[in-house]
Amino acid sequence: MTITRTVDSHDARTDERNGRRFMDADLSLDFLRVVEQAAIACAQTMGQGDRHKSDQVAVEAMRREMDSVPIDGTIVIGEGERDEAPMLYIGEKVGMAHKAPNGRVFPEIDIAVDPLEGTNLCATGAPNAIAVLAASERGGLLHAPDIYMEKLVVGPTSKDVIDLDAPVRFNLRAIAQALGRGVEDLVVIVLDRPRHTQLIDEIRATGARIRLIGDGDLSAGIAAAVVGSGVHAVMGIGGAPEGVLTAAAMRCLNGEILARLVITKPEDEERCRAMGIGDLKRIYRAKDLASGERIIFAATGVTDGTLMRGVRFFGDGTRTTSLVMQMHPHQIRFIDSIQVNPAKDVKIRF
Ligand code: FBP
Repeated sequence: MTITRTVDSHDARTDERNGRRFMDADLSLDFLRVVEQAAIACAQTMGQGDRHKSDQVAVEAMRREMDSVPIDGTIVIGEGERDEAPMLYIGEKVGMAHKAPNGRVFPEIDIAVDPLEGTNLCATGAPNAIAVLAASERGGLLHAPDIYMEKLVVGPTSKDVIDLDAPVRFNLRAIAQALGRGVEDLVVIVLDRPRHTQLIDEIRATGARIRLIGDGDLSAGIAAAVVGSGVHAVMGIGGAPEGVLTAAAMRCLNGEILARLVITKPEDEERCRAMGIGDLKRIYRAKDLASGERIIFAATGVTDGTLMRGVRFFGDGTRTTSLVMQMHPHQIRFIDSIQVNPAKDVKIRF
């Protein structure tokens, strides 16, 4: 049994125009199932101190569930290249078109996955680990290599006043002004890494408040785009794949990410070129990283977080909270689901 606050018609149709298949289906609840199952699987390992196991069970559960989704899917951001990742590798085909084709025509969908964003967070029971994916019509998500990316993420009110190349104090002053508050009232999230020492000093010098996090700049970015979360910006260098997923979320939330790939080695350059990225110094916006018009973004909390609660096992069942967003029709859903164990005389509490 799944209880959701909104009920949608689940119509996975595929249309064909000018010989091109495109996404004309409400797949959001299918993708919800996928992230819920990944979250439930890895939440069982919470606090066990084994980040690889946590990741592995999330990947396996996500992969399993993905094949029941009525799509002709391709993983464009995943667990790595084929030779290093047995499942959900870049280029892997997923969905019913490959598992149970039956001669049906399915929509061609590109998918970016992070079955467990924040492996350490789950392994230590720290907040804000999530299971997440973004989907788009073919070509709608940048194929980003697993390298670093410089990022500046803000919500709708301050999205037009930021500049990735401006000094930190300029950006924070502009964000504060857009939000109608003082710089010292801002909360900026930064990954706690030695590479951010100077950035942290510069933010502190403005008087803004900082929340240093161990991992998880994707859920931090989502929080920055939701009014009332208490987070006003995310700054610093994190993973490029997480940057593309953040961009998909920003498209739905009307927030913004400014981003630039960080190339430190000749191999990074080669990997970018191999993935079709020509301009290595380009500053991307959300619309460049996630250009699709039919983006769907789904995330389920693994551990308790700012916007979603973690998975709760209560004997008779399992309760999850998720965020499912889509651009067509444009809707944002906070979904509370209870999976009831078979043959249980369950009691549901609000
Ligand atoms: P994992 O899910 O792979 O553990 O990554 C979490 C994360 O903190 C991301 O949120 C962030 O973008 C990236 O790792 C930062 O990378 P690094 O840990 O190398 O600084």
